[in-house]
Amino acid sequence: MKISLSALDKNHFGVVTAKASFETNDSLGDTLCWCHENKVEFLIARIPTENISLAQELELTGFILTDTLVYFRHENISDTEIGLTESCPPIGTENNEMKGYSWRLAVPTDAEDIKQLAKKIFKNYPGHYYADRRLKKSDCDLVYSSWAVNSCLDKDFSDVFFLFIFEEKPVGFLTIKVIETDTGEIMLNGIHPDFQGKGLYFSLISLAKKWAIQQRLRQLIVSTQVTNLAVQKVWCRQGFEPYKSYYTFHRWFTNGFTNDPI
Ligand SMILES: CC(C)(COP(=O)(O)OP(=O)(O)OC[C@H]1O[C@@H](n2cnc3c(N)ncnc32)[C@H](O)[C@@H]1OP(=O)(O)O)[C@@H](O)C(=O)NCCC(=O)NCCS
Repeated sequence: MKISLSALDKNHFGVVTAKASFETNDSLGDTLCWCHENKVEFLIARIPTENISLAQELELTGFILTDTLVYFRHENISDTEIGLTESCPPIGTENNEMKGYSWRLAVPTDAEDIKQLAKKIFKNYPGHYYADRRLKKSDCDLVYSSWAVNSCLDKDFSDVFFLFIFEEKPVGFLTIKVIETDTGEIMLNGIHPDFQGKGLYFSLISLAKKWAIQQRLRQLIVSTQVTNLAVQKVWCRQGFEPYKSYYTFHRWFTNGFTNDPI
């Protein structure tokens, strides 16, 4: 079992928060003991969807289902696409809709614009935080804007940060973290609400693939809520395929530390 305290979540929600990933044979009892020893108030647990018996055990012990994540991957990325340079205009097809757009890599001075952009993109985003009635919706929104800012400023969060620009203002972004020598993970991405439905996201994914080729990565992975059909459509059109999925459960311990449902 992988479990650790999350300082970022404690910061956002003001409670001692832990994150756990269950593998097939992990014991729920060990996880609860760990939480007890570490005075955890709020636990976020991810389990593979095929582990239905564990999902039912969690349901019976006070955990609530908050989302279902689906992972996609593009294996063996390699093609004859041109190399990625900051001066080449890669986005979109040559249609009028794309005129006026460009892209560049984010720099630290973009942090404030990125924060405002992420706030707009992820307002009321239906992720696992948002599904938990014990969390304030405004605090949930802040998770994404602070994640975006951290990704702009700190290499621990992302190895590349692409910004899409329209009339000198950022209108979309995508970050990638190299998680293994041959694998990159697309971490956080989105398009300003006023600019959705114009194919910009398709172009962002093209950029990600070109960057992966340039970095000699063999594959890209990416995940989202199973309900986020817009991104899954684009990933499929860009050669990604689904390959695994997880349930996210939350468990609150603030009403006393028992195994009884709260
Ligand atoms: C999801 C998102 C990135 C799509 O960006 P976009 O630039 O509008 O996407 P595209 O224009 O390339 O459109 C992709 C497809 O999704 C569809 N689509 C776009 N927004 C949609 C929405 N809100 N609901 C349903 N479908 C949508 C488009 O119609 C298109 O499908 P079509 O070609 O069959 O018509 C954007 O809506 C967004 O930023 N959402 C909020 C944050 C988010 O979900 N980030 C990704 C987390 S993994």
